[in-house]
Amino acid sequence: MSPAPLRVLVTGAAGQICYSLVYQIASGSVFGKDQPLELVLLDIPMMSAALDGVVMELVDCALPLLHKVIPVTDEKEAFKNVDYAFLVGAMPRREGMERKDLLAANVKIFKSQGRALAEGAKSTTKVIVVGNPANTNAYICAKYAAPKISPRNISAMTRLDHNRATAQIAAKAGVTIDDVKNVIIWGNHSGTQFPDVKHAKVNKGGSATDAYAAVGDEAWLKGEFISVVQKRGAVIIAARKLSSAMSAAKAACDHIHDWHFGTPKDTWVSMAVPSDGSYGIPEGIMFSFPVTIDAATKDWKIVQGLSIDEFAQGKLNATLQELQEERDEALRACEESNI
Ligand code: NAD
Ligand code: LMR
Repeated sequence: MSPAPLRVLVTGAAGQICYSLVYQIASGSVFGKDQPLELVLLDIPMMSAALDGVVMELVDCALPLLHKVIPVTDEKEAFKNVDYAFLVGAMPRREGMERKDLLAANVKIFKSQGRALAEGAKSTTKVIVVGNPANTNAYICAKYAAPKISPRNISAMTRLDHNRATAQIAAKAGVTIDDVKNVIIWGNHSGTQFPDVKHAKVNKGGSATDAYAAVGDEAWLKGEFISVVQKRGAVIIAARKLSSAMSAAKAACDHIHDWHFGTPKDTWVSMAVPSDGSYGIPEGIMFSFPVTIDAATKDWKIVQGLSIDEFAQGKLNATLQELQEERDEALRACEESNI
């Protein structure tokens, strides 16, 4: 007998990321090939016709796992009884804009959706925030969803940065993606993030080695590599005149897949979660850490005991400072908005 359907909410469902995302969810790439789903698709009323188009296409895919598709433009209705929520809906960054420029506009959405989560969602709901500035939006969402929803159930996506870092290392070391594991993205999903490969492992020629040995170019690892990963989002916007979508959707699927099924043995992934004070990051800051996830409890743990040298500490401090500034600005914007 197949399990009861999971109710999965996707916001911004008429947008470009979701055009890739909803098919991957509905076809079983996230929750497995035996897990039926009810997909709730939220967008704003102005996008209602486009949303109907996405629904028609999903129906036409004739996917056996998709038991229901429910298009909605009412936020309260959207959040009712959801098991998982992909919060993608927000204004995207355009060429020349910094994530900070989006803050005031987007933070209000996440205040309102935090409240809607508290009001309607299951207390076990797991949430990924993709809409930028993702860490700060998740912080605000968690603040307004508590105490009904534990802040531990709310996360922001840095898996795209994690995947970008993995791909860069694989290419430079001349191996395939599966040969690289345990890169880390620390901090904010922004230009201050710290992609760290000090603890990464690379399988080269049949034996596991560390990334520094596998790549053999410390200057590249401490310079160009970091900057390529930090700036990749902006470079893609400059090339496409649109922000990344296919790779963002894939990363969101990876993030929730691993939260649902747990991380493999001796493997961690990067996820922005509310800090528990690890590595000197003040409690509650939505900071990207290396985490492992227990399949049975679906609970994440920050990987402990990794050495942080002076170079790394400087990078951690910079991204923390940016997150604290964003948080303060977001709290001010929330106070000023009467939503
Ligand atoms: P898009 O403009 O194509 O789609 C966004 C959709 O969200 C639109 O359909 C819009 O109507 C909808 N929306 C706006 N406000 C909403 C609300 N209150 N409720 C529900 N829906 C709402 O944008 P996109 O390219 O799909 O990007 C979405 C977001 O994801 C942007 O903020 C972008 O910057 C961000 N992003 C994050 C990452 C990451 O790694 N964290 C990567 C890429 C993009
Ligand atoms: C990305 O990293 O591709 C996105 O977050 C787009 C952006 O705004 O940088």
